[in-house]
This record gives sequence, C-alpha cells and structure tokens, in this order.
Amino acid sequence: MLILRWILYFSVTIAAILAALVTITNPKYHGKVKIRSKYGKVSIYRGNDGTPKIFGENKEATYFGLGYVQAQDRLWQFEKFRRLSRGSLSEVFGDEAFPIDYFFKQLNFDYLSQVAIKDVDPEVLEDISYVAEGINEYIKTNPLPLEFWVLGVDCAPFSTVEILEIEKFIDFVVSYNHQMELTRDYVFKATNSSEISRKYMPFENQYFRKNQYATFDDEHLKKIGLFEQDGLKKAAKNFKPRHTKYPFSKKDIYMEVKDTLGLMHFDGSNAWVIHGNYTESGKPILSTDPHLTSLLPCFWMMAEVSYGNVSRSGAFLTGFPWILLGRTESLGIGITAIHADVIDLYEEKVSEDGKYYEVDGELVPIKQQKDYIKVRDPFYPSGYRLEEILINSTHHGPLINDPYDEVYKFMKRLPFGSLSKHNLAVSWSGFQGKSTYFSNNRCLNYAKDVHQGFECLKNLGTQVVNIFLTDTKGNIGMAPSISYPIRKHPLAGAYIQDGSKSENDWKGYVPFEEIPKAINPARGYITNSNNMLTTQNVEYGIGALMPSPPRVQRSSQLIEEQMKSGKKFTAKDMLRFQLDSVDLNAIEIHGLLIQILDKYSEKLLHQLPNQEFKDIFIKFKSHIDKFDGDYHVNSTQASLFALWELDYHISFLQDQIPQRVLRETMVNIPDGDLFLLDVLENLVSDPGYYSEFCQSSITIYDKDYEIKENKCLLSLAYNAIHAWKMLETTVSKDPQEWLWGRVHRQFYEHLPFSQIPGFKSIWHREVPAAGSRRTLSFACYDYFENNMNSDVFFKAVFSANFRAVIDMAMYDEPEKYPMYMSIDTGASQHPFSEHYFDMNDIHYSEEGRIMTLGIENARKEARYHLELVPAI
Ligand SMILES: *[C@@H]1O[C@H](CO)[C@@H](O)[C@H](O)[C@H]1NC(C)=O
Ligand SMILES: *[C@@H]1O[C@H](CO)[C@@H](O)[C@H](O)[C@H]1NC(C)=O
Ligand SMILES: *[C@@H]1O[C@H](CO)[C@@H](O)[C@H](O)[C@H]1NC(C)=O
Ligand SMILES: *[C@@H]1O[C@H](CO)[C@@H](O)[C@H](O)[C@H]1NC(C)=O
Ligand SMILES: *[C@@H]1O[C@H](CO)[C@@H](O)[C@H](O)[C@H]1NC(C)=O
Repeated sequence: MLILRWILYFSVTIAAILAALVTITNPKYHGKVKIRSKYGKVSIYRGNDGTPKIFGENKEATYFGLGYVQAQDRLWQFEKFRRLSRGSLSEVFGDEAFPIDYFFKQLNFDYLSQVAIKDVDPEVLEDISYVAEGINEYIKTNPLPLEFWVLGVDCAPFSTVEILEIEKFIDFVVSYNHQMELTRDYVFKATNSSEISRKYMPFENQYFRKNQYATFDDEHLKKIGLFEQDGLKKAAKNFKPRHTKYPFSKKDIYMEVKDTLGLMHFDGSNAWVIHGNYTESGKPILSTDPHLTSLLPCFWMMAEVSYGNVSRSGAFLTGFPWILLGRTESLGIGITAIHADVIDLYEEKVSEDGKYYEVDGELVPIKQQKDYIKVRDPFYPSGYRLEEILINSTHHGPLINDPYDEVYKFMKRLPFGSLSKHNLAVSWSGFQGKSTYFSNNRCLNYAKDVHQGFECLKNLGTQVVNIFLTDTKGNIGMAPSISYPIRKHPLAGAYIQDGSKSENDWKGYVPFEEIPKAINPARGYITNSNNMLTTQNVEYGIGALMPSPPRVQRSSQLIEEQMKSGKKFTAKDMLRFQLDSVDLNAIEIHGLLIQILDKYSEKLLHQLPNQEFKDIFIKFKSHIDKFDGDYHVNSTQASLFALWELDYHISFLQDQIPQRVLRETMVNIPDGDLFLLDVLENLVSDPGYYSEFCQSSITIYDKDYEIKENKCLLSLAYNAIHAWKMLETTVSKDPQEWLWGRVHRQFYEHLPFSQIPGFKSIWHREVPAAGSRRTLSFACYDYFENNMNSDVFFKAVFSANFRAVIDMAMYDEPEKYPMYMSIDTGASQHPFSEHYFDMNDIHYSEEGRIMTLGIENARKEARYHLELVPAI
C-alpha cells in the first residue's frame, strides 16, 4: 500500500485551505466564457445529472469544446494516467511511487509510443490536437482541481503525443497477460511438475479443458472456412511446456500498481447483440457493459458530441473525440476484452557485462538508452533528486528485471550483481506491430454500416478487444480488433520462451481474413464475456485458449430461454440481464458441496475435535442448503457460501506455495473454478481424494488444528466452520443479518486520497453490491482475510462502469424505443459537486437512465448551459 508520507507533513495547512478552494475550483457549468480559439462557438448543455451534450459550429470547435469539458470533469484522472504512462509519479509521490515508475520506465513506453505513433494517420493527430487545445485552454484559464492543490503539483499542457501515449498505456493494461506466464512457470516448479499445476493451467493435451461455450460455434467456423477438427488438441499433442529458473517475485508489482492507481488486470466485460428477428421493435438491440476498476471519477466520460450531421453519444476516453462504445449516426458499438495472448516473455541469455545477448550462438548488442526518474525528496534543496536509469532492449522488446529486486538494489545502493538478474524481454504486439488502433477507432465512428465497420478493422488492431456492431439497416456483427502473433507452436506463448533461439520469434500476425468474425450469424445473436471465441476446432488459438467464464454461459442461457419462449426482446430485458446476479458455477459447486455434506456428514462429525464445531457444522449444513446461486444484496446464504468457497479454494497448495497472493490469483481465473469443480467431483466418490495438496493445518481463531487424513474433505469442513465463525463474530449472531450487500461492498476509490484517512471521507464512496466475479452483474473482489474489525469481507473493485442498451429502432422512433446509457459515478470529478456520485443509483437500477439525442432535447432538459465564445 502506498502511504503518502509527505502529504501527512502538510496535512494541517491543507485542511485550512481546502474549504477556501472548494468554491473556486468547482468548474463553471453555466454562463458565457470567452475562449482563445479560432474555430467557432460551442454550446454545452447539461441536464439534471450534469452529463455534457456538446454542440459546435464545426468539427474543430466541437472537439475543442469536448477537450474543455473533459478538463472540467476529468483533469486529475488525465494527469494520473499521464504520469503512470511516462513513469513520473515519483515526481509527485516521492520514493513510494518509485517501483511503479521504474517498472514502466523499464518497459520504455515513452520511447516506444513515440516510435509507434510515427505511423498514425495525420487525420488522427489533427483531430486529437483540437481536443488537446480545448484541454489546455481550460488549464490556462481556470483553477486546477483540488488534487493538484493538495499535492502541490502543477498541470502542464497536454500534447497530442501524450494523449496517444495514455491510450497506448491503457491498451497495454488491457492486453496484459504475461503475469500468467510467470504464474505458470512458478506453480510448475513449486509443485514439482505435479499434475495439479497442469490441471490449473490446462495447456497440455491430456489436460485440455472440456469444450465450453464459444462465441462462434463449429457451424459458423465451417461457414467462414476456419474449421479444423481438433486443431488445437492436435497442436497440443507435441507440445512440451518450457520452464525457467526464474524465481517468483517476492512482491507483486501489479498489486502495487492497483493499490496506487486502481489500474490492473482488466477482468470482465459483457456484450451481446440480438437480431431484429427476435426483438419487439424489429431492429437489433445492442447491450454492452465493459467492466473496469471502479474509480472516482469514472474511467469513462459519457457525453453527446455533435456538429453538422455528425452525432455521437457514449463513452469517451481521455483526449479522444471518438466514442469507444455507444452510438454514432449509423452504428451501435460495443466492446469486450479478448484476453488473448498478445504479450510474451522471452528469457534472454545476457553476457556477464550486460552489454550483449545471444541469438543462435551469436552475440548481439543490447540496445541501451539513458533516462531519468525525478523523485520528490524533501531532503534535497530543490525538493527533487534525479535517478539515472539505463533501459535495455533486445529485438523482442524491453528487458525487465524483477522490479523489487532491482529497486531494492537501487535504493540501498547494493553492489551490482549481488541479487539475481532474470533478463526477461517483453514482446507486445502493441509495440511490435503497427499502431492502427487510433485510426481504426476513428474509422469506426464514420462507418455507415456493419460492413464498412469491418473494413475499418482490416488494419489489424492492437486493441485486443472484440468489437460488436449493429446498424440502422438491421445488421449485427462482431469482429476482434487484434494483432495476434503467429508462433512456432500455437501454445508456446503460454510459457516463458527461450529468447536465444530465433525460431521462437514471432512470425508475423494472423491475417484479418483468418480471424473469426460474423455478420448476421444463423444463431440470431452474438454474445461474449471474455470467453473463447471459437471452439478448439481451429488452427490458431485466438481466444480459444481462454476459458469461458460462467458469465457468457448465463447470457446465452437467458437469451436462448427467451428465444424459445417466443417472447420478443426489448431494451428493458437487456437492462435486466445486465444486472443478473445468478452464478452458474456457484450452482454447480453448491450442488456438489451438498452431495458431499450429505454423504460424509457422519464421518466428519466424528472427526471434528469439539462439540462447538459439531454444532456449527450442522448449522452450516442447514443454512447453506438453501443457497440458490443468486448473489443478490439480500442473500444471507451468498455471504456464507462465498466465504467458505474462497477460503477452501485458497487453502489448496498452501503447503507448496506459501505466497497467498499467488494462490488467490489462481483462484480468480476461470481455470481455478474448473479446478475446484474437479476436486469436488472427485471428493463425491472418494473422500480420500488428492490429499497431498490440501492444507495440512488450519487456524480458527488463534487455535491451530492439524489435518492428517482425508485432508481435502476435512479441510472443507474446517473452512465451513471458519466461515460461520467469522460471520458470527463480525457481522451478527443472527444469520438473517448476513446480507450479501453488507459483507460485499463496491468500493469507488479515489486514488490516492481513498488511502489517506482524513481525505477518505471526502473523496471515497462505498455502496452495497450484488453479484460475484462470475455473474453478469460483475463484481470482482478483493478479500479481507480474517477480518476482525469490519463486517466488510469483500471489497468489490471492478464493475460495469458504463452501461448502454441501444435498440436500433431509436433512430426512427426515439420516444417509443429510448436509448439507455449511464456511468456508475457522476459527471463531475469534484467531490463537492452534486454530480460527483449522483448517477450510481440509476446505474444499478433495472429502470435504466434514458439518454436523449439532439440539440432540441438538450435545450429542453438543460439545467446548465455553457457557451464557449471565441475571443480572437
Ligand atoms: C521433485 O521430484 C524429484 C524427482 O521425483 C525429487 O527427487 C525431488 O525431491 C522433488 N522435490 C520436491 C521439492 O518435492
Ligand atoms: C455529412 O456531411 C458531409 C459533409 O457535408 C457529407 O460528406 C456526408 O455525406 C454527410 N453524411 C450524412 C450521413 O449525411
Ligand atoms: C541495463 O543493463 C545495465 C548493465 O549493462 C544495468 O546496469 C541496468 O540496471 C539495466 N537496466 C535495467 C532497467 O534493468
Ligand atoms: C431473419 O428472418 C428472415 C425471414 O424469416 C430470414 O431470412 C433471416 O435469415 C433471419 N435472420 C436471422 C439472423 O435470423
Ligand atoms: C432487499 O431488502 C430490502 C429491505 O427489505 C428491500 O427494500 C429491497 O428491495 C430488497 N432488495 C432485493 C434486491 O431483493
């Protein structure tokens, strides 16, 4: 956890000036403002919840206005992302942020982005430059948001390159998957190559996952010519995982990044689109709700932007004048993350002096580049010190070392070489391939129909997202935007590769023609929740190596059930589906648990050490029996089940892998769920199953209990008792009060102020949350282990930050078929604004928030009206 020591030095003064600042830093939403712009007038209307609707005289003026509004509502967010992507957080936060800067500096983002940006279309740069001008105009002429005052930093103007860099950085975080390679490597070694690691990471032929829900079925694969019976399994046959001597990090840099800036592994998004044949309006309906870290302010800015005949409404990203999701004048656009493997690690053979690396027996010089990290340091007269850093790269990409080893060396000034060096090069298609993402995004905003939209994606993207499209003509479609590397072996990317052999290099990218996609598929709908795109009957595993989370199984179940019933779909159905909190895996796990409890109750009661435990065990059994798999806020069974399941699952491998963070990581991947199911299935028939990796001791309230025989079975019972006692002690003696919404709360973190006691009450928000990480109403949580002080055990940190449901009939009959859009916080970044968090309620209601279109409606609903008038 990043503790901002130095802030506390100043906190007394801060409190005093805070109040005075509140009024002057709140942006002006109303009135007439003279701007230095040569482009023309802009009108910004905001209704009751403050969502901006921006109408300009022309494109330039409108984009300028959008930039101005983005700065009004999101400036601190921009600044955070800029500093994160450039490795300059330490300039604000001092030494505590140094490991994060060091990590991202090693990745050489700054330089690689500039190289990649060289092939960005001039129109893209031009469009972004108008937005940048608007942002910078606001910075020049208005007081900065409170965060800047409190932290004592200024806000430099934003350049076009910086804006692209931020997008590139976000792109990287979405692509991010190399931690899995490190995890596989470690687990394999920690378990001495046992079967368990192979079952957790099922890439070898005999351990391949059973077929799961795929977005494109075999019938469709045949139609598009990609079908190859058992393609991936055949490939897996002669595949041998490779293992390194790389020791796993003592601390996880990603945990640190997440704690500091709330950006980590993006783990969920849902989207589906249903053909007009099945809808009440006769036009397609698109539903999209990407899930990212819940932040304050929200990651997305929701707005309407309009000039001439152009009209976009939806979710905008920092500095971009195009929507990423939402609606243009012809298209509905949705996205989900693919999670395909586009980042590889290569273990390089580096010479003693660190200057060369080996390729096919030859020594090749390492590219080295000098850079600096500026660190805030009160002990220096200038207030800062400069740390020099040498960035090393091979032809695979930048070389990274374990950040904590490295940083430790750095800060303690240890003699070089006293700690291990690992020399892992990071290859990411976003750096190796062409930077087409920005152009593709722009192109999509101008496309007239789904076919044209697909044309935009022909330049392979580096975004690693599935793009859902639907148009006013009634077409539906989905195509991945991805540069997927071709490797010597389709599964090689799952493990750390030997960088010293050129045969392991990428051999290009899968061409667009061979990427699975669909327009108007026979199924009548397309759905995806970061699951397998295709069955395993393909040659390249784009998305086929991903497991299918139960979320996608649930959405297809809901859609198919309604299709079968003959009831036509409406937008309201989609809003309801988005908030569905039924967990299909939990239902399966629960079914097995009940069977085990029924079968072995006598045996377990006999083995439990005291009467108290025996009584609790009986109460547990009768309470959990009624769980229906629905994680709604009022479920008391959900609380007990979630605690039991997580504790039991994390206890696996406790004897082999002491690192809890790592075990939790394994639990949180869909493969982990499959593994747990596998264990339970086996336990049903054999109470002695797999005893070597189940925990051999457990602590229940300060007392240790040893588990000798039937370890998996007995620890299941001990964890049940533990869960019961935790809820009883910290929530209530009465199980009827163990409401899921009480122990499971959505945290909206402001970073860094959610972490500072006095500031937390101002900036931070929390609400009761439904759902689990396996439900459509997605809530991925952090878990507070042995929580004695609070009744919140589950800190939900991910959720749908933006929801949209677009019935394409809205173009002709907007009154009858309204469009729904909302974000989970509020329009404003200012904690004292009434629009800081005012959309949260409606965002989580089935009623949905209607987003109207056009200047007439904007005027009608206007509570605020800001005119930006050029003064030159
Ligand atoms: C791993 O397996 C090898 C060979 O079976 C054995 O010699 C070694 O002791 C095992 N190591 C551990 C840590 O279990
Ligand atoms: C919008 O206007 C531009 C320029 O006037 C024109 O080229 C384009 O075809 C128009 N688009 C639509 C959908 O009317
Ligand atoms: C790059 O290599 C040099 C040795 O040539 C080493 O001193 C330096 O720490 C390396 N840089 C990083 C970021 O690991
Ligand atoms: C929609 O219905 C029409 C007419 O029955 C049919 O020709 C078409 O294939 C259907 N399309 C889809 C995607 O179901
Ligand atoms: C939960 O219970 C409260 C109070 O009884 C009720 O108002 C609310 O509607 C319930 N929520 C759900 C989702 O059942």
